[in-house]
Amino acid sequence: MGVSILAIIYIIAAVTFIMGLKMMSNPASARKGNMIAGVGMVAAILGTIFLYRNPDGGLLQNHIWIFAAIAVGTLIGVMAAKKVKMTAMPEMVSLFNGLGGASATLISVIEFNHLADMGFPVDASSAGTLGIIFAGVILGNITFSGSIVAWGKLSGKFKDFAFKGQHIINLLLLGASIALAVFIISDLQADTTTMLFYVVFMLSLVYGIFFVLPIGGADMPVVISLLNSLSGLSAACGGFLYDNKVVFTGGILVGAAGTILTVLMCKAMNRSLVNVLIGSFGGGGKSTSTGEQGQHKEISLNDAAVVMSYANKVLIVPGYGLAVAQAQHACHELEKLLEAKGVQVKYAIHPVAGRMPGHMNVLLAEADVSYDKLLEMEQANEEFPTTDVVLILGANDVVNPAAKTDPGSPIYGMPILDVELAKNVIVNKRSMKPGYAGIENGLFFRPKTSMLFGDAKKALQDLCGEIKSL
Ligand code: TAP
Repeated sequence: MGVSILAIIYIIAAVTFIMGLKMMSNPASARKGNMIAGVGMVAAILGTIFLYRNPDGGLLQNHIWIFAAIAVGTLIGVMAAKKVKMTAMPEMVSLFNGLGGASATLISVIEFNHLADMGFPVDASSAGTLGIIFAGVILGNITFSGSIVAWGKLSGKFKDFAFKGQHIINLLLLGASIALAVFIISDLQADTTTMLFYVVFMLSLVYGIFFVLPIGGADMPVVISLLNSLSGLSAACGGFLYDNKVVFTGGILVGAAGTILTVLMCKAMNRSLVNVLIGSFGGGGKSTSTGEQGQHKEISLNDAAVVMSYANKVLIVPGYGLAVAQAQHACHELEKLLEAKGVQVKYAIHPVAGRMPGHMNVLLAEADVSYDKLLEMEQANEEFPTTDVVLILGANDVVNPAAKTDPGSPIYGMPILDVELAKNVIVNKRSMKPGYAGIENGLFFRPKTSMLFGDAKKALQDLCGEIKSL
């Protein structure tokens, strides 16, 4: 009876995951989708704790340990989520991804030891189980060590590190872990298997570090979405091992969603997936543009207010700096003021603007900016030639023309927003400092460009004041 109720709970939970994922694709329903999937997850966990039966028919014991661990984990998770700044979300996501990978690895290690205790029975079913155990260890370890390095790089604790021929070493590390796993499964020798298992364990751990360390500044989004997808696949291995459909479904959903996101990110950055896997893209490039590129010119608040108020069409390009300044509400206020003056206002969203996928969409949705005002990169690039003023708010790399013109640049090949096709470009940032990729931006020195220096929130509030007084 309990077992069939548990099966029904698992089906309901799996349905909530799918519904939640679907609802998360739209900012308006995302919060509700997250809640629905969360309720499904809690039901699946409680159902497992109280209704799951061991192969010998007994219920789970150790309730005190289980609930103590849940309480500690929940406390840390809630506190971390409440404390984290919006701009530090990608770091936290990386850290949590890494922990997902580590859990998958631990499951595999435990199940490997069970097989070892049984003396590695040589039959088809244990060979299959070993295959999944190895998949769990390799995927879990790459996710764990790679995510920790990604967390360190995003938070500025680790620097890019690359050496000549690193991509060959990376290929060898990955190839060796897979080949050794296949060898062990096909030729089980009880006395060497355990030692070789831990060799695979170490190789995959080191590969995770080597694969993320060299990834250059602007290319991190692709790696993060790939690690996200690997964390799902490693969790799915746990579902396979325990024949637990809900863990399997959840893992596959994360894996599939992460894979789709990775492919989209690769497209957005014009990178190939193979290059991501061997960690041989981004960073290391030597830019041909050197130092100062001439004089930049500044624009006063009053002039900026006049140019925008008398424009027919203004396109706003939000970037990471808008999130840092928490200037989304002031930005929406500017949009409303300009529209009241008959100016058409839209937003040009670059797929990797900010520090996480959809960062700008979430930020603007928070300020109630209408979703249909957001243009994707391709649509925006079509609209720039008919745009009077582009207002860039804390964006840098995503509008850097070096991506098109400088083959030595680490962002070369990344599609950018072609803001220069518009009549005027106003750039708001605090200084001439570079963005995430650490490279100078020639756009700031072009004749059409004027700099409006200052913190985005303050600059926008002052701009709104000027427009009101016109
Ligand atoms: P960035 O290139 O990082 O530039 C942001 C700019 O904002 C900086 O140049 C900074 O200049 C300015 N800024 C910072 N605080 C500000 C404030 N309070 N007010 C006004 N300006 C401020 O941003 P982007 O153009 O959005 O590009 C994103 C970059 O991050 C890309 O290289 C992308 O590959 C990378 N990345 C993206 C993701 C995802 S998934 N979106 C994940 C990881 C990495 P000042 O210091 O002079 O003010």
